[in-house]
Amino acid sequence: MSGDMTEHDEHGHGPVAVDEHGHGHVVPSGDPFADPGLPEHHPRLTDISEKAAKRSERIVAGLFVLSAVATIAFMVCYTQVPNNRQSLVNFFPIGAMSASNFALGVCLGVALFSMGAGAIYWARTLMTDVEIPQERHEYESSNEDKAAAIAEFQQGVEDSDWKKRPLIRRTLIGAMAVLPLPALWILRDLGPLPGNALRYTAWTGGELIINDNTVSLDGTTGQGIRPEDITIGSLVNARPKAALSAGDDFNNMMVKSSILLVRMNEADIKSSQERDWGYHGIVAFSKICTHVGCPVALYEQQTHHMLCPCHQSTFDLSDDGRVIFGPAARSLPQLPITVNADGYLVARSDFNQPVGPSFWERG
Ligand code: FES
Repeated sequence: MSGDMTEHDEHGHGPVAVDEHGHGHVVPSGDPFADPGLPEHHPRLTDISEKAAKRSERIVAGLFVLSAVATIAFMVCYTQVPNNRQSLVNFFPIGAMSASNFALGVCLGVALFSMGAGAIYWARTLMTDVEIPQERHEYESSNEDKAAAIAEFQQGVEDSDWKKRPLIRRTLIGAMAVLPLPALWILRDLGPLPGNALRYTAWTGGELIINDNTVSLDGTTGQGIRPEDITIGSLVNARPKAALSAGDDFNNMMVKSSILLVRMNEADIKSSQERDWGYHGIVAFSKICTHVGCPVALYEQQTHHMLCPCHQSTFDLSDDGRVIFGPAARSLPQLPITVNADGYLVARSDFNQPVGPSFWERG
């Protein structure tokens, strides 16, 4: 590069050299990485006024107390605010959501926000804001550096007024002590140990089979299924009639009692027991995968294979729901069916075995 030198570019950088193409280049002058030094320190109001410092202290403590109150409110809401289909609240423009979810979200949000806001406000107004340069050093610090770091940390503790302001210290410890408690309450969602809860479902002898596609939006009405409604090769999602009046027990009932009905040529059914438990080629199986409980859904009508989309367990619906691929350890439970006096499909009994994942059966 060669050319004329001008004094400075338009940004104040300089000097500038112009090459043969007319392009300007800033020429470094002196040390371009010179340490500019620390900016001048301006004390804050809380540094010079004990009254302002006390006010900040009260604000920080108030935020920590608010965090603790919101955490306790979370636990209260968990038990007191109903979480069912009747407690939907419409929040425009978000849409409908359960009052319980809304209350829990607000409480936990306030608890976490107040804790964070209190810590930031504390750091910005009361902890020291004197900047301290830290020199670069080897990856492994020397013992002197480690000792210096510990000393700096202890100095930081001193500067944060941790010891001097017991009100902040105690409220922070109190808020942090109660913050993990919601986790204990959420454990309740794991429910009781399965025991007989998974052994029995809503299906009993004579229970009408309701077509999911005919169920009203509020879930209280639906139509039964006649054998002639199901053509060979088709699949119908269905539920017991009891689910229409289950109320708060709806989710619990559906997660165990959802079924799939498929119809195939009777000659294709390999198992005589399965044929007996079906009705003219219509067979009913639990919709809950026996691996870890996803709803099975992908039916291959040529092979009668039912695939679970979660981990690809595949069940042969023409052979007692036997597992032919994937991690599921046992076959899909079959629901014995027949027709009632009105010509509608009904259950003959409960499933032939417990529905859902089988891990709870072990040991
Ligand atoms: S839940 Fe169905 S394969 Fe895992």
